[in-house]
Amino acid sequence: LVAGVDSSTQSCKVVIRDLETGALVRSGRAAHPDGTEVDPAAWWSALNEAIAAAGGLGDVASISIAGQQHGMVVLDADGRVIRDALLWNDTRSAGAAAALTEEIGADAYAARAGLVPVASFTATKLRWLADNEPENAARVAAVALPHDWLTWRLLGYGPESESELGPQLDKLVTDRSDASGTAYWSPFTDDYDLELLERALGRRDVVLPRVLGPGEAAGKTPAGVLVGPGAGDNAGAALGLGAASGDVVVSLGTSGTVFAVADQPSADPSGTVAGFADASGHFLPIVVTLNAARVLVSTSKLLGVDFDELAALALAAEPGSGGVVLVPYFEGERTPNLPEAKASLHGLSIASTTRENLARASIEGMLSGLGAGLDAVRGVGVEVGRVLLIGGAAQNPAVQTVAAQVFDAPVVIPEPGEYVADGGAVQAAWALTGERPSWAVSMAASPAPDFRPEIAAQYHRYADELLK
Ligand code: XUL
Repeated sequence: LVAGVDSSTQSCKVVIRDLETGALVRSGRAAHPDGTEVDPAAWWSALNEAIAAAGGLGDVASISIAGQQHGMVVLDADGRVIRDALLWNDTRSAGAAAALTEEIGADAYAARAGLVPVASFTATKLRWLADNEPENAARVAAVALPHDWLTWRLLGYGPESESELGPQLDKLVTDRSDASGTAYWSPFTDDYDLELLERALGRRDVVLPRVLGPGEAAGKTPAGVLVGPGAGDNAGAALGLGAASGDVVVSLGTSGTVFAVADQPSADPSGTVAGFADASGHFLPIVVTLNAARVLVSTSKLLGVDFDELAALALAAEPGSGGVVLVPYFEGERTPNLPEAKASLHGLSIASTTRENLARASIEGMLSGLGAGLDAVRGVGVEVGRVLLIGGAAQNPAVQTVAAQVFDAPVVIPEPGEYVADGGAVQAAWALTGERPSWAVSMAASPAPDFRPEIAAQYHRYADELLK
């Protein structure tokens, strides 16, 4: 048996799979604390709780941890966590991101690290620490990401560990996918860019986790379970889905992500596409938007219906919603970069103002925003073969119908699953056998291609106004 972990923002999920068939054998989960600043010790407790809930690792040969990206875990020379981790969704370092971009230049930054700094990325959090908590910054001996720190603990390191292996900061490891979200690692050289680290923290004499390749083992737990390299969550999902070159995953979580498995690294100086690496030896150009499933939550509330009724209403309206357009930036937007934006409705006439049109406009607006992300991924040279639509909202029949009309590519709907944790299980199997397992992922449905470019066109007529 092999185990995969998704240590996400909200919770820790563990799946235990059969090495030969990939069949799910057991699973467990535990909650994480809320907030954008978290004591990593809470993730360690949740990991142990979730492993116990999944029946323990007694019969498990290998485990690997995927999880939330970018969080800043700073350790002192004794391996102690210096302050609570600042997570990817903590925006206090927005000013630091702007400063780093200004100092280095967006073009130069993208050419070096494949991305332009935004508040999510680790480098900006280090700059914030150096500027605002200089005593803490001075004590930093190692910088890890959430999954790196958990892997290190699992291997038995750390001052709180019962194994007495001690701090051993040089035993910290990460993988290419998570390293690429730090903004001080280069997908072009496959190595850290220490000058970018120094620009962020003010010095470079700190330990950074050694970057493991796909299938490379990190070591063993004190009980002898092999530990895989781990991954960032989006790269983990790509592995769990069995995504290959030409596949683009559109994930409809509370927020939305669009990412491709690509053969080449990319650099987008506009900052729309972040040129991450993936966990299979390839690359993962990604667009992150803030408004996906939450758009449907808000519209359902407004119309006083549940998701099934919202779908029925939307499917009763014509494509294009009678000209009604929802620009769905309810929580501001990250891509396009409009942090202060709010959602807006357009094109209302006496005749077009129906519940059916409003329901459809919310789905068209949500998917047109992600369609713009898909176009941006095409813009860095990705040939889109098909779109894999995942996340809770992907099960909604109206979402499936509209996706086939808004995305200019075949759309498939994989069976719902814990794809990030599954990616961890794939890594665990890969580290154990030396080969990527060929477990099949079931694809439940494929709406017939029905591209209607006029839907995106009317969306952009209003959404692009905000960029002027
Ligand atoms: C990726 C990103 C998110 C986090 C969420 O850039 O910010 O997907 O990894 O866990």
